[in-house]
Amino acid sequence: MSGELSPIDKAKFVAAKRAADYVEDGMRVGLGTGSTAAWLVRCLGEQVREGGLQFKGVPTSTRTADLAREVGIEVISLDEARWLDLTIDGADEFDGDLNLIKGGGGALLQEKIVATASDQMVVIADIGKEVEHLGAFPLPIEVIPFGWQTTQALVEETLVSMDVLGRQSSLRMNGERPFMTDEGNYILDLHLQRIGNPRQLSLVINQMPGVVENGLFIDICDAVVIGYGDGRVEVRDINEGTVEQDRLDFLESDNLFSDLAD
Ligand code: A5P
Repeated sequence: MSGELSPIDKAKFVAAKRAADYVEDGMRVGLGTGSTAAWLVRCLGEQVREGGLQFKGVPTSTRTADLAREVGIEVISLDEARWLDLTIDGADEFDGDLNLIKGGGGALLQEKIVATASDQMVVIADIGKEVEHLGAFPLPIEVIPFGWQTTQALVEETLVSMDVLGRQSSLRMNGERPFMTDEGNYILDLHLQRIGNPRQLSLVINQMPGVVENGLFIDICDAVVIGYGDGRVEVRDINEGTVEQDRLDFLESDNLFSDLAD
């Protein structure tokens, strides 16, 4: 029931529910990963089951694929889809230019491939994700396990000449073992505090041999749907230069609330 949701969960839910309006019959849609994206998948599943919505989803992680199938969404691979009409995904931070940090859930590689292969990327986020400068959230980078400590040292050394405030990094863990991505890689989280030039940093990091991809999404996002804990939503479209405001009601009977997102 909605009464059990925290304000942040309500904010994530209304952002997801509003963003579900972007999905139309016949579309091929990238489905993001994370707690906000899980709300989206549930909302879309409900529209498929009860509203007859017909679309094909390309998940960005095994978690999302499992959930999408569970709620009744037809799942296809990116290779089957080739190109997508739309991707909707969460973010860890977004700035005024709609540049993003993603990868808090460890799915940044598939997320970036899928978003880049889409006509449009819409981010769904609670208002707490908005920042003036990216970097307070640790920047995830996906590295191959071979020689990862050497890659880590190289990354830290390179950060000395970058416009960042911190240059510590840590290997993401899953209990006693390194966290492993869907591709079998590791994640290094870079504690940069503030990123002065995200575009430059992204290019430099990706030039290192052991790095597969980084969590900076530059010029990929087209619009952000921002949710608030009181049900308000704001849609900012960077291409149209528009800002729209709306309010969504929580329905006590909404069966989406019977199974809370992760
Ligand atoms: C997953 O790898 C991430 O990019 C998520 O999209 C991001 O961490 C946002 O997650 P939440 O919606 O759970 O905050």
